[in-house]
Amino acid sequence: MKKDKSKLELLEDIKGDILAQNICPELAASATQLVFGDGSPDSEIVFIGEAPGKNEDLQGLPFVGAAGKFLNEMLEGISLKRQDVYITNIVKYRPPDNRDPLPSEKTVFLPYLWKQIVAIHPKLIVTLGRHSMESFLPNVRISNVHGQPKRIRIKNSELGMKKSDSQVAAWVVLPLFHPAAALYNGSMRQTLIDDFARIPHILAQIK
Ligand code: URA
Repeated sequence: MKKDKSKLELLEDIKGDILAQNICPELAASATQLVFGDGSPDSEIVFIGEAPGKNEDLQGLPFVGAAGKFLNEMLEGISLKRQDVYITNIVKYRPPDNRDPLPSEKTVFLPYLWKQIVAIHPKLIVTLGRHSMESFLPNVRISNVHGQPKRIRIKNSELGMKKSDSQVAAWVVLPLFHPAAALYNGSMRQTLIDDFARIPHILAQIK
């Protein structure tokens, strides 16, 4: 009998698909490389940022610049290491001059992001910043909902899976401020640290 693929193998397949299918060729042409994701495929938490910046583009890893250093510090604050969690972005190539990702760029990468999430099957999806949040929780304001876990229900067929799959899966999404936005803003920084510190409690509440 054929053995089921490991989570790592599934993730490698998804990465290969993005490359083979030439997703977002304009961004791919201006970027150094694909920044797919980093960390443990067995993580209970997936952190999702916006798009790679300069350092991420050069190293091929998400959150390795100043925002990443701050993220690592907050992870240590809840006794987790970066290698224990999984970190990725909505958009997998650096937008030129660090401009905001376009709605069309977010849309084209979303099915691949969902495939990553489904492969890892985390208990908690943590969105970092407004762009990431909007892909999961449209029509809310981050200033109103940050730090509050929300349960979302999505049909598998909406996730770029088999069109015939009408099964509904429930996911818990925790919207947080973006570490880069909070880095130099005293009150937002403290709010993010406080929200982040509640992650272990929020995880423990999820069945
Ligand atoms: N900001 C993001 O949203 N993602 C990164 O990978 C780095 C900075």
